[in-house]
Amino acid sequence: MKKLVIANWKSNKNLSEAQSWFDEFAIVEPAQDEVEVVVAPPFPFLPLAKEHLPSSIRIASQDVSSFPSGQYTGAVSVSNLSGLVDFVLVGHSERRKYFKETHQDIALKVEQIISAGFQPVVCVDSSYITDQANAIEPQLLDQCIVAFEPLNAIGTGQSMPVSEVVEAVAEVKKAFGEVGVIYGGSVSWQNVAEYLLVSDGVLVGSASLQVSEFVKLINKASGQFLD
Ligand code: PGA
Repeated sequence: MKKLVIANWKSNKNLSEAQSWFDEFAIVEPAQDEVEVVVAPPFPFLPLAKEHLPSSIRIASQDVSSFPSGQYTGAVSVSNLSGLVDFVLVGHSERRKYFKETHQDIALKVEQIISAGFQPVVCVDSSYITDQANAIEPQLLDQCIVAFEPLNAIGTGQSMPVSEVVEAVAEVKKAFGEVGVIYGGSVSWQNVAEYLLVSDGVLVGSASLQVSEFVKLINKASGQFLD
């Protein structure tokens, strides 16, 4: 598996800022030989991402409904996302904290995502790795990619020491099986290389908002694996 570098914009940017990011990114074209780059903009900008990003860049949504398509006003179902995304993030700690999502809600979303043929990226903090895994149908566990995101490292500029990430990766594999495990929490171009040595990729929030910084991060991530 290529190392994954996922940009999570969260609720940032308006339409013209999103357009500028895609345009700027398409011109810069960072080195992607050794990494798979995925961009997760807010829902309204997914068609724009599809239209403007180079075809080598994959697209993710930041969430999805736990319900199928139908009478669920305001929800975005997997069928709404058809043809727009390859990956779907679920269970981000911000979804759990502000929108009160439970392990069970996230398990239902994983079912929706896998039934639609998308790749789920399930976010977990250290304190509920096993509880989250236990909520998911056992036969679906090894189809997940897990993003280990320690709460106190998200958006703080204080990334987790690499030795602790190594332990968390082992814990995730114990609970989920032989899945890809990526790290998220204050990843930057300065520290990305060390996290890629001990994980299958990174989930990047703040450092993905400016194209120049994100491209630097991708180049750093790619560079270390070149001869
Ligand atoms: P951060 O966010 O890189 O700003 O810490 C990561 C995330 O929450 O996905």
